[in-house]
Amino acid sequence: MKLFLADSAKHLKQNLKKVGCEIGKYDSYVFADGERGYRLRENVRGKSVVIIGSILPNPESLFPTMALHRLAVENGARETTLVIPYLGYARQDRPARPGEGSIGIMVMEWLQRINPSKLILFDVHSDLIRKTFRPFVTELSALPLIADALAKHPPHVIVSPDAGFISRAQKFQKLLKTKPSLAMIDKVRPKPNVAIAKQLHGDVRGKDVLIVDDMIDTGRTLSQAAKLVSQNGAHNIRLAATHGIFSGEARNRLARLPVKEILITNTLPQIRSPKIRILDISPLALDVLALP
Ligand code: R5P
Repeated sequence: MKLFLADSAKHLKQNLKKVGCEIGKYDSYVFADGERGYRLRENVRGKSVVIIGSILPNPESLFPTMALHRLAVENGARETTLVIPYLGYARQDRPARPGEGSIGIMVMEWLQRINPSKLILFDVHSDLIRKTFRPFVTELSALPLIADALAKHPPHVIVSPDAGFISRAQKFQKLLKTKPSLAMIDKVRPKPNVAIAKQLHGDVRGKDVLIVDDMIDTGRTLSQAAKLVSQNGAHNIRLAATHGIFSGEARNRLARLPVKEILITNTLPQIRSPKIRILDISPLALDVLALP
């Protein structure tokens, strides 16, 4: 097996090494006109090749992952596995307004077109993508990692910050042996990047609460949710999500909240910040290698 990291996953290098993965070498260079070139420095003929690379908000991040895959195929890889820790554009899986389009589906079609033997995604935002591309896609989840991290002090209540994603909270509930109760919030988005937590359904008074989402972008969803559960008398509030984008003022917005801890994984590169605990997804790479 040979494993290569595209630029968007280079931050995982040391942690992957720690769990015993050897990282394949390749050269990348820029031509005079700005074009990118790549050359594998490993023999992949007859081997199983794994390429890890995320689709970041900057669409250029797609290119190195696709190019490395191409090199693996042309140089005789027996099979290829593409691992995408963060699949950007999944929130644009369908047009929200007339004149828009299914950009997230388009990105998935590009990935399908290069024909990897396996495509592995982490906690995909979109049910539509999950359904449309099954069985082409295998989905891994960071929820077990988050549950392990909370095992010593499990919450009494799991809160879904959005009624549409209650299934995620239910999955998380099943991972905790203590069988916490569930609550959910009605969230509305009057316009993009604005979230309002309207109403809480469930009892959080005096309880330790975990609000779990798939991603933190501007941090508005979770900060609205945290304020609402705090107003409803929650005792300790913790937040958790798989993907930490932290756009703009997100970190400051979250730092001001009455929350004890924020758990996030390193599907995307993270910087250390007060209250934020970073969980490493690298051990899940071992699960990937064990897949049939
Ligand atoms: C909802 O659509 C998602 O699951 C997240 O709640 C959302 O994308 C988080 O975005 P923000 O942090 O900007 O509120």
